Amino acid sequence: MKYGYFDDDNREYVITNPKTPYPWINYLGNEDFFSLTSNTGGGYTFYKDAKFRRLTRYRYNNVPVDDGGKYFYIKDGDTVWSPGWKPMKTELDTYECRHGMSYTKFKGAKNGVETEVLQFIPLGFWGEIQKVSVKNTSSEVKKIKLFSFIEFALWNAEDDMTNFQRNFNTGEVEVEDSVIYHKTEFKERRNHYSFYSVNQAINGFDTDRESFIGLYNGFDNPDVVNEGKSKNTIAHGWSPIASHYIEIELQPGEQKDYVFMLGYVEVDEADKWESKLVINKKPAKEMIAKFDTVEKVDAAYNELRTYWDNLLGKITIDSGEEKLDRMVNIWNQYQCMVTFNMSRSASFFESGIGRGMGFRDSNQDLIGFVHQIPERARERIVDIASTQFEDGSCYHQYQPLTKKGNAAIGGDFNDDPLWLILSTSEYIKETGDFSLLDEMVPFDNDASRAKPHFDHLKASFYHVVNNLGPHKLPLIGRADWNDCLNLNCFSNDPNESFQTTGNKKGDTAESLMIAGLFVMYGKEYVKLCKRIGKNDEAVEAEVHVSNMIEAVKKHGWDGDWYLRAYDYYGKKIGSNENEEGKIFIESQGWCSMAEIGKEEGLVEKSLNSVKEHLDCEYGIVLNSPAFTKYHIEYGEISTYPAGYKENGGIFCHNNPWIMIGETMIGRGDEAYDYYTKIAPSFLEDISELHKVEPYVYCQMIAGKEAFKPGEAKNSWLSGTASWNFYAITQYILGVKPDYDGLSINPCIPSKWDGFKMTREFRGATYNIEVFNPKHISKGVLQLIVNGEEIEGVIVPILEKGKKHSIQVIMG
Ligand code: GLC
Ligand code: GLC
Repeated sequence: MKYGYFDDDNREYVITNPKTPYPWINYLGNEDFFSLTSNTGGGYTFYKDAKFRRLTRYRYNNVPVDDGGKYFYIKDGDTVWSPGWKPMKTELDTYECRHGMSYTKFKGAKNGVETEVLQFIPLGFWGEIQKVSVKNTSSEVKKIKLFSFIEFALWNAEDDMTNFQRNFNTGEVEVEDSVIYHKTEFKERRNHYSFYSVNQAINGFDTDRESFIGLYNGFDNPDVVNEGKSKNTIAHGWSPIASHYIEIELQPGEQKDYVFMLGYVEVDEADKWESKLVINKKPAKEMIAKFDTVEKVDAAYNELRTYWDNLLGKITIDSGEEKLDRMVNIWNQYQCMVTFNMSRSASFFESGIGRGMGFRDSNQDLIGFVHQIPERARERIVDIASTQFEDGSCYHQYQPLTKKGNAAIGGDFNDDPLWLILSTSEYIKETGDFSLLDEMVPFDNDASRAKPHFDHLKASFYHVVNNLGPHKLPLIGRADWNDCLNLNCFSNDPNESFQTTGNKKGDTAESLMIAGLFVMYGKEYVKLCKRIGKNDEAVEAEVHVSNMIEAVKKHGWDGDWYLRAYDYYGKKIGSNENEEGKIFIESQGWCSMAEIGKEEGLVEKSLNSVKEHLDCEYGIVLNSPAFTKYHIEYGEISTYPAGYKENGGIFCHNNPWIMIGETMIGRGDEAYDYYTKIAPSFLEDISELHKVEPYVYCQMIAGKEAFKPGEAKNSWLSGTASWNFYAITQYILGVKPDYDGLSINPCIPSKWDGFKMTREFRGATYNIEVFNPKHISKGVLQLIVNGEEIEGVIVPILEKGKKHSIQVIMG
């Protein structure tokens, strides 16, 4: 069953039934200032950090789901309704929610009144605009009342949910003209406040929540709206809100537009006050003036659309497969930008409180957006590398506001450092900018300990070399990519975290996933060394890589697949000898991508085993059989019920590793088949089961051993976005930036006749046409660049600012 449809021309998903199986959300904002918006108007807004600078309140795990947000009430006679359906949930004559590229549009109509609410954050602006249009489509004069509503909570969002003895006393507001200011804690340590305004005169307002709603009422039954008149309350403590009240009279056919703004202001310490305890409103007024007319708002909206035209214009495809095109051209790239901005912090599954920017996560996210915003990618790499230590280890996460490592979670996830080689090499291949390697980058955020960025890569590489276990395989530390494979943890205490507890000395447990990762990015490191003339270093590094390959072949092969790990006692994990968890996806993915033992047929065997043991209707599960009991020596992985999360769930992030592995041995049909199983646009028809948005990837789909296979959770913030984009564009479609040019070596379904791609690369436009006359999956017979045939599969760097035509004939 579907709850809407894709409008590809507008790059929107149009939800036509508000009762989606889970709130289907969108993100507004592109830099610094963001909002999450659900299809019924739920969500919240923050500046940079959803924990420390959240402007409005949001209640996770609420009953009913997704209550609280940016709400509008329309009172028309005795009928009260909301343009986004919630909170009133009055049956609407028409409802539509269009989630587009950084904006959301609601259309709701009832009894001859049509409304449209357009929500977006103008580029470079610290405020959310809501343009509300109200139109009378009846033949009578309409007198209606419009009430806005948001809940302020601009203080620590974690504290907001725990520290009521304080927070119920601190709330302070000011009201002037049509603007409601939230100035809680402003007089002490804050230099920032927020405000909610509307560009027209109001008939009243409220700022005290209980007066507006009524202590025992819900958002769907507010006293003030029922009574049809604001109380003009001023909040003193308790829960400050902002609600405007506007009386509207509309002739038949008449439309009126209102511009609301939820803004965030920072002022200089010396400039905080207008007069005693009256805040300096000047900056807020300037912000309001920027968008005080519909024309100004529309211009900013058009600018935003153009911004996205440009971003998405860098890679576009025409494959003849509608569902694929809409993933690659629109939604997958969009999601990559969202993961760039949010990392794993704020979604409807991530509370915005717990996690900052992940070292491994943010490095991996980068491969999905580096082609769109290379300058910001470079900055991100430097931010991440700055949290590393001289020995290559690093903080697992860092806070977006301070950019400092997060000591509460610490480090010792031994895969972490290697991802820096991935992000750096992909950045250089995309841009050709080797100067990044020379940039001075601090260790542990200490400028006096800065070294060239190259030294960070070297430290990453040698962190593995210096931390090998008994089989000369990489020690796992607290965990590798799989956060839940905690082989040194041995936790019996339900009150401790698997991620931060390490009860055992970690000098035995080894990871084959890190081994594969090391071979893959170790080779990349060697290439980089050669390119910058560090030949001795390249020779030495090559030895370590070959040693690792040998160690994997000798100790990491189980007969039909790669082992997953050795546990603390030196016992195999992910072996046919095990009763549960006989085979795992991560080591099959990484050792295949790294082509370890490819000539001896190991890669092919491993991937055949994946098909046989891990594949199912909804994707590839992480391990099989899933664990059914707690294995103290494995940690969190064995705590999840079978079929969920890291215990036999379809952890979408790692499925593309297998897709890429398949392309290494030329199996395009298999690779694409895996792609379609988890790509959200292909799952639209089963939305009822899948539950989460059909336009973005989710982290996890319940696996074959789960109670409800196919049911998904944790949409949006997942490495799934970047890896799938990377797998489809660079390995299946096969258009891959390389140091000396654009490599084109597709591995596609044999039934395809070919495809087209337009790609910006190093300042030029490459118009690529791929022909597959013999219906094969892989193999390039001819490569024609601007009419001339060239050898190999790499199109050289072509003249900037020009369009170039490239034909690839497979055969
Ligand atoms: C989550 C984490 C990621 C980890 C993965 C597997 O997605 O954000 O860092 O690799 O889970 O455990
Ligand atoms: C939990 C989750 C895992 C995530 C980790 C982050 O272990 O299961 O997916 O990566 O938390 O700390």
